[in-house]
Amino acid sequence: MYQKIKGTEDLYGQEMKFWYWIEEKARKLSLLYGFTEIRTPIFEETKLFVRSVGQDTDIVQKEMYTFEDKGGRSITLRPEGTAPVVRAFVENGLITVGFPQKYFYIGPMFRYERPQSGRQRQFHQFGAEIFGSPSPLADAELIIFVNEFLKEIGLVDFEIHINTLGDTEDRARYKEALKEYYSQHLDKLCDDCKVRYERNVLRLLDCKVDVEYAKNAPKLIDYIGENARKHYEELKELLDTAGIKYIEDPRLVRGLDYYNRTVFEVHHHKLGAMSAIAGGGRYDGLIKEIGGKDVPALGFAAGMERLVLAIKAENVEVEDMRINEVYIAHFGGSEVRNVAFRLAQQLRDEGIAVNLEIMERGLGAQLKNAARTGAKLCVIIGENEIEKNVVMIKNMETGEQFEFEINFVASGIKDMLDDMR
Ligand code: HAM
Repeated sequence: MYQKIKGTEDLYGQEMKFWYWIEEKARKLSLLYGFTEIRTPIFEETKLFVRSVGQDTDIVQKEMYTFEDKGGRSITLRPEGTAPVVRAFVENGLITVGFPQKYFYIGPMFRYERPQSGRQRQFHQFGAEIFGSPSPLADAELIIFVNEFLKEIGLVDFEIHINTLGDTEDRARYKEALKEYYSQHLDKLCDDCKVRYERNVLRLLDCKVDVEYAKNAPKLIDYIGENARKHYEELKELLDTAGIKYIEDPRLVRGLDYYNRTVFEVHHHKLGAMSAIAGGGRYDGLIKEIGGKDVPALGFAAGMERLVLAIKAENVEVEDMRINEVYIAHFGGSEVRNVAFRLAQQLRDEGIAVNLEIMERGLGAQLKNAARTGAKLCVIIGENEIEKNVVMIKNMETGEQFEFEINFVASGIKDMLDDMR
């Protein structure tokens, strides 16, 4: 028997109701906030991710699904959505269309990580990007949008962490200070941190082992220049005005290299180790970096698997999918079958979800199947019924049966379903 690849999942049945719930709300709210959908390919040139996510990040160093295609090109399954959207924005000349531009996306991403609850190798993100605005208004609006989206899908038990990384020059000065500080403790650091020290000293602050050293490390906020500081202050004021609760987290640095100024992450209290349900921030230098002009930008992405876990952990009442409200059971000759077909069509035209018997079983087996698939009503049509110009309707919840004149059956079923909903 074949098995799915480690770190991937098959999604089907009632599990899908959580995904519909999230995706429908994500699409609706995105449009409401002026984001339009963008769909980019699932694979890109490897260079795109190395350049944007950063040569020294965990993603590029350890986690990318990279392969050579039959034409000898190095291809990578996208580990995240920002770089492809920026590539599309530059390549399609959208840069000349006018600002701001706002895009959202929903789709699979791929990272070769150690799988555990909330961490997969194929996972899905809902993300959004804003191009063109240098103003803290854009940062505030983005965070408000994320907050609203999480509330809309029913979550309350989360907190938003924010920080500023300053501008590139600020960060360079800060990195120097960190190197200086950690150089005194280098021999006591964990092996991972020794590598991070060389490659990306900011990531030392993230370490789960060397927490004590991070506590006493120089604070980024002390190295932030005047402009970035003002930007951050204004953002906080705007969030306060909007009534958004947030936690200032000076140690939040994020795992991708393209960020500057505002970064944020949303953590859910009931998810354990994989608590980050969303993350994002500003990346003012990225568009220029991959071939465009100097266009400020920012965005976020939420991990959909983690949103599903959070929804379940909070017992959010998620609407069932309407898949099988009425089952049409029929037994008899072609005349009976034709009536059954016509009725199925008529009910579906009215927006009622219908399952029509297509296995040609005996009535007992058909009724059993109606119950198994959760039908609310079962319509029973046999030769006797056709002769009398009626159908039988069985309420599957109470077991009651009624005879209905064929001409009125559609409106009768609608009324009955309304009463049962
Ligand atoms: P990220 O923080 O790497 O940011 O990912 C965003 C979210 O995706 C995480 O908070 C988490 O919920 C989810 N996620 C990440 N890796 C996994 C995984 N292996 N399994 C399950 N869920 C995962 C980005 O990807 C940036 N592109 C966000 C962004 C957009 N920044 C600006 N614009």
